[in-house]
Amino acid sequence: MFAMPAQRALISGITGQDGSYLAEFLLEKGYEVHGIVRRVAIEDPEHRLTRLDGIRSRIKLHAASLESYASIHQVVARAEPHECYHLAAQSFVSYSFDDEFSTLNANINGTHYLLAAVKNIVPRCRFYFAGSSEMFGKAEEVPQTERTRFHPRSTYGISKVAGFELTRNYREAYGMHASSGILFNHESPRRGYEFVTRKITSGVARILAGRSKELRLGNLDAQRDWGHAREYVQGMWLMLQQDEPDDYVIATGETHTVREFAEKSFAHAGLDYRDYVVPDPDLFRPAEVNMLLGDANKAKAKLGWSHRIGFEALVREMVDADCRAAGVEPRVHASAS
Ligand code: NAP
Ligand code: GDD
Repeated sequence: MFAMPAQRALISGITGQDGSYLAEFLLEKGYEVHGIVRRVAIEDPEHRLTRLDGIRSRIKLHAASLESYASIHQVVARAEPHECYHLAAQSFVSYSFDDEFSTLNANINGTHYLLAAVKNIVPRCRFYFAGSSEMFGKAEEVPQTERTRFHPRSTYGISKVAGFELTRNYREAYGMHASSGILFNHESPRRGYEFVTRKITSGVARILAGRSKELRLGNLDAQRDWGHAREYVQGMWLMLQQDEPDDYVIATGETHTVREFAEKSFAHAGLDYRDYVVPDPDLFRPAEVNMLLGDANKAKAKLGWSHRIGFEALVREMVDADCRAAGVEPRVHASAS
C-alpha cells in the first residue's frame, strides 16, 4: 500500500489573521502548506511571523512581492499547488484613503499576477479569492446576498470588486476552478490592532493594566456583521472542495454597532465604556459603510457552512486574550456580562 501524496496548498497572506488560521486548518487536514511572504518577513521572523509561531517548522515559506509578476510566477512554479488561497492584500480600509494608489496596485495587480501564474503553470489548481462585504459598500438592500449590487465606498472596496471580477473572468474565459468568498467582517485574538474590534479589546486590557486612561474611537454607530475568523477559513476551504467553482457570502446574519462591541467589551471587564471611550472626529472616514448584514443561506445550502461562534463569545474570547497578554485577569473585574 502506497500513501496518497499530500495535496499542496499555496496561501498568499499566510502571515495575516486568516492566513494563519487557514494554514493550521489545512495542516490538520494533511495538506503540504506553502506560503507567500514578503522578503522582510523571512529576515525578521520574530516580529513578522508571530501568528505562525506554532507551525513554522511544518510549512514552507517563499519570498515574493505582490508587485512583481516574475516573483509570483517563480513561487507558483516551485510549489505547484493543487489549491491556491489568495489572501494577501492591503486590508485596512481606513489606510486605503491615505494611500489609494498602493492599495489599488497591490490588491488588483497582485490578484491578477497570481491568477495569471496559476493559469499558466498549474491551470487545474483551484483558486480562492478573498472578496469582501466592503464590495457592497453603500448597500442597496438588507441583508446582502451574492446577487446584491456592488457600490464600494473606498479604493479598498474598489480593488476587491476588481479582484472579484478578475476571478470571475478567469473562471469563464479559461475554465479555471476559481471562486470568490464574499466574507463579512471576521475577528479573533489574532486580528490586527488597527481594526476596531482589536483596538477596543486591547484598549480594555491596557486600561485594566493601568497603562491607558481612555480609548479614542471614530464612528460608533457603524454596524457590522462580525464572525470568528477560525470558522470563516473553513468556508474558504469548502468552496474549493465543490465540483463547480462559484461565489459565496460568508456571514453570521447578525449585525451590531461599534458602540455595542465597546459596551460588551468593557462590561466583560467590569467597566462602563462611557467612562473611557472618547469620540474622535479625526477617526471618521471620508466615505463610510454604515451597515453590513450578510445572508449566508447559499453557503449553508451548498457548502453546509454556518457559523457557531456568536457575537458575545467572540467579544469575550478577544477581551480575555488581550487581558492575559497584558497580565491582567478580566474575570476578577467582570460584572455579569
Ligand atoms: P490581514 O491580517 O491584514 O493580513 C493581510 C496579509 O496580506 C498579511 O499576510 C500581509 O503580509 C499580506 N500583505 C499585505 N500587503 C502585502 C503586499 N503588498 N505584499 C505581500 N503581502 C502583503 O488580513 P486578514 O484579516 O487575514 O484578511 C485576509 C484577506 O481577506 C485580505 O485580502 C482581506 O482584504 C480579506 N478580507 C478580510 C476580512 C476580515 O474581516 N478579516 C473580510 C473580508 C475580506 P504582512 O504580514 O507582511 O503585512
Ligand atoms: N479601524 C477603526 N478604528 N474603525 C473604527 C474606529 C476606529 O477607531 N472607530 C469606529 N470605527 C468604525 C469604522 O468607521 C468602520 O465603520 C467600523 O468601525 C469597522 O472598521 P474596521 O474594524 O477597520 O473594519 P472594516 O469594516 O472597515 O473592514 C474590515 O472588514 C472588511 C469586510 O467588511 C477589514 O477586515 C477589511 O479588510 C474587510 O474587507
